[in-house]
Amino acid sequence: MNNFSFLSTRKEYRSFSKDCTDAEAAYHTSYDSCVKLVRTAVDAAVKWIYATENKLPPENLSDMIAGVGLNKNLADKLHHCRKAGNAAIHNEKEFSAIEAQECLKNLFEFVQWIDSRYGKNFSPRTFKSLTGDDDLLQTELLGMKLPTPIFAASGTFGFGEEFDNFVDLKRLGGVMVKCITLKPRRGNDGVRITETPSGMLNCIGLENPGVETFLTKILPRIKDKMNVIVNVSGSSIEDYGELAQLLDVDGVAAIELNISCPNVKDGGIIFGTDERQAALVTDWAKCSTSKPVIVKLSPNVTDITKIARAVESAGADALSLINTLMGMEINVHTWRPTLGNITGGLSGGAIKPVAVRMVWQVAQVVNVPIIGMGGIRSAEDAAEFFLAGASAIAVGTANFAEPSITMKIADDLSKYLRGCGLKNIRELIGKIKRDA
Ligand SMILES: Cc1cc2nc3c(=O)[nH]c(=O)nc-3n(C[C@H](O)[C@H](O)[C@H](O)COP(=O)(O)O)c2cc1C
Repeated sequence: MNNFSFLSTRKEYRSFSKDCTDAEAAYHTSYDSCVKLVRTAVDAAVKWIYATENKLPPENLSDMIAGVGLNKNLADKLHHCRKAGNAAIHNEKEFSAIEAQECLKNLFEFVQWIDSRYGKNFSPRTFKSLTGDDDLLQTELLGMKLPTPIFAASGTFGFGEEFDNFVDLKRLGGVMVKCITLKPRRGNDGVRITETPSGMLNCIGLENPGVETFLTKILPRIKDKMNVIVNVSGSSIEDYGELAQLLDVDGVAAIELNISCPNVKDGGIIFGTDERQAALVTDWAKCSTSKPVIVKLSPNVTDITKIARAVESAGADALSLINTLMGMEINVHTWRPTLGNITGGLSGGAIKPVAVRMVWQVAQVVNVPIIGMGGIRSAEDAAEFFLAGASAIAVGTANFAEPSITMKIADDLSKYLRGCGLKNIRELIGKIKRDA
């Protein structure tokens, strides 16, 4: 027996287990309390390890962490949790959802380590908030099992890695990375973005490093971190085919054909506004790759259902809609257009009703799944798209205002589904009621 009789294995185990559950529960009420409780749980867990191993612990807890045989990375994470917990205890700062989640994640990793070493099997019953109640959101799309039906929309999320500190990328259905073209593009000159009353106008002009750099430098970095959907654009049908072929590699989950960029002449919109051209591009891409092909539709058409039907007949595996609506702003002091490109694409809250209407119309005429997007900023916004017939949704402009918004939407969507008495998001798809 050691002299530390306060370290009774059973007592410490109980307190450690309870502290984990409390930290987890506190996440939903106060991030500061959550961070404090994570620290308490880490301390309790470390003491429990010493008790279990019947080892004399060093006096100070930092040294105790160093002595339990963790790898440096995990030990550093636990030191971080303790530091954050101390700051919370001394009211030195207010913690955000992301910071609280990071602490919980670190604790979770520690618990998994304990599980694997001592066979205690804590993990399944704790830490629900790290995965949300994601059983409610789990779904299948394009042959992939997805943790949530929530995607990040192309051009608003970089290559995903930029958001690594803000979101759990593995919790997203996938990231539609910034549009890739055959050759690098520097994009449009002049002002490229301007805020509008409920959204933004952009005319980036498909700036990107080109497919070669994407394949050699970027994809290897990101492919294990998320489902990578590569958005591509070309100035000819053959370009789309070549891109689809080049991207038929490990690490690419699907290809999204951008036939709807309104900001450059050769950005695909010529194909997205003509049924025949849209079908040809789709067919060409499909024949050039074994990857699922998603076709991204433009709202800048009179009847979107015609284009949707045409690309479905040409073999599209899924449709995504909508891209931005063509818009323009004039500076009344200079009498000049605000944007360098004169016109730009309108996105954000203002376009949501148009997007919901188009998803609803398209859902009635196609059988392939629809990824709905346009102005989604909350779980309620997302729910509208599912009710209209979308099988998944993507968040775009809202990421600029709140980089972790996709996680909040996932959490809130679970709550919404539970409130509706539903067991899975699939039960919501297309359930709009038509009677008054
Ligand atoms: C700054 C910016 C850049 C975009 N770049 C692309 C792009 O490269 N390819 C593409 O298909 N869509 C692009 N989009 C369109 C978005 O993916 C999305 O379809 C559209 O913005 C509507 O969704 P939102 O209102 O949630 O942003 C871009 C949008 C914005 C705001």
